[in-house]
Amino acid sequence: MGRKRNRKPLLENIEIVKLAAEGKAIAKVDDKVVFVTNVIPGDVVDVQVTKKRKSYMEGHPVVFHKYSDLRVDAFCEHFGICGGCKWQNLPYEEQLNFKQQEVLDNLSRIGKIDLPEANPILPSAKTEFYRNKLEFTFSNKRYLTFDEINSTEEIERTPALGFHVPRLFDKVVDINKCHLQAEPSNAIRLAIKEYAFANDLSFFDIRAQEGFLRTLIIRTSTTGDVMAIVVFYHEDVEKREGLMAHIAEKFPEITSLLYIINEKANDTITDQDVILYKGEDHIFEQMEDLKFKIGPKSFYQTNSEQAYELYSKTREFANIQKDEVVYDLYTGTGTIANFVARQAKKVIGIEYVPEAIEDAKLNSEINGIDNTAFFAGDMKNVLNAEFIAEHGHPDMMIVDPPRAGMHADVVETILQAAPNRIVYVSCNSATQARDLEMMDHAYKVTKIQAVDMFPHTHHVENIVLMEKR
Ligand SMILES: C[S@@+](CC[C@H](N)C(=O)[O-])C[C@H]1O[C@@H](n2cnc3c(N)ncnc32)[C@H](O)[C@@H]1O
Repeated sequence: MGRKRNRKPLLENIEIVKLAAEGKAIAKVDDKVVFVTNVIPGDVVDVQVTKKRKSYMEGHPVVFHKYSDLRVDAFCEHFGICGGCKWQNLPYEEQLNFKQQEVLDNLSRIGKIDLPEANPILPSAKTEFYRNKLEFTFSNKRYLTFDEINSTEEIERTPALGFHVPRLFDKVVDINKCHLQAEPSNAIRLAIKEYAFANDLSFFDIRAQEGFLRTLIIRTSTTGDVMAIVVFYHEDVEKREGLMAHIAEKFPEITSLLYIINEKANDTITDQDVILYKGEDHIFEQMEDLKFKIGPKSFYQTNSEQAYELYSKTREFANIQKDEVVYDLYTGTGTIANFVARQAKKVIGIEYVPEAIEDAKLNSEINGIDNTAFFAGDMKNVLNAEFIAEHGHPDMMIVDPPRAGMHADVVETILQAAPNRIVYVSCNSATQARDLEMMDHAYKVTKIQAVDMFPHTHHVENIVLMEKR
């Protein structure tokens, strides 16, 4: 028996009316909301529906009848194919307006709380070349666009070094110039690709699990340090030495040149040995007079300049006094904890990842900070009444949880601990709003500051100050 095909409708001549969460935009058809990808308000399109539910539909544009007057030309040659910077066709001012509005809508609609007047969103000084870390993937098959596939000309499917196509795990867009990271990022990537072609080094085939070159990670820093990590699928001393020597010679500005032999099925390097080829096994970032040591596996905010703005606002909102005990929950590598430590009596940082906690301790040590203490573990297990009794009652707390927000048990423990002030930093204002609602009976939101860390994407950070009622 043949499978019944569920044909989804094509919606014709639909006007896009506003931007929505997660980088999508909205049209209304017969009072039903349609979430559409890759469009902006003012576009008039035919939409192929891909998901149909009672109250909403989802789809993508197949024909553009009118382009929005808001549109600006995207500056990147890979725009529309690479999933990286989806809002390049929207003026930066509009991006900021939307992000600010989304944060405020979430806080009032989901959180249902009284809000003070919010500060205007902090724009990113750099709207291009703002990232300090990128990971590129080698693939034996370059992603072909629909135009290339439908072309009558013979198209060569050369290997690729670039980014995964969203939602297609085995497809990689070959990147010529990426506008996300400053030089020598593009130059290193292109030189490695050229050397690999000239010397017949094979690119990974993720389906067949074969090939030599897997990924390339490049980290740059405001101190001028540069780290490059080449990940190979298997060892081949002669070929590996040849490539590493070529990179070292061509890019003397690389201060930390490393490699990994990853024989596993997946690309994660957290469980892999990292081998030093040349230079140091770390780079440094600097914020004010603080230095942060970053190893190949360390987390650090990816927009360094804007991370400084985020932390400065957090510190300003926190207004920490010399005699106060501060808890920095979800501390990562302890960057916020160390950034505010000199104003506090003591800072306690808690974080899930043990390696990040080791980095946090090291960062206190190299900066001569001796009033911090860091603990690894799941927040809902570590932060409890006994922990607080042992390490001191928090006068104030800074929390910076992942996108999912805080576990309800953690919110409960914070309410029990009852610090005078809480600064809640969030990369997802929807879950932030949910958590604020749970604390609304005890805390009043008195300041709001959205911060744009990632221009041309829908992501936005939001800082909220909560004061005890
Ligand atoms: C948004 S990051 C905060 C990073 C840090 N504040 C910074 O600016 O560098 C969230 C952190 O929460 C940690 N995390 C996630 N779930 C956790 C949990 N259940 N318990 C403790 N930490 C957790 C993650 O490992 C991550 O480092």
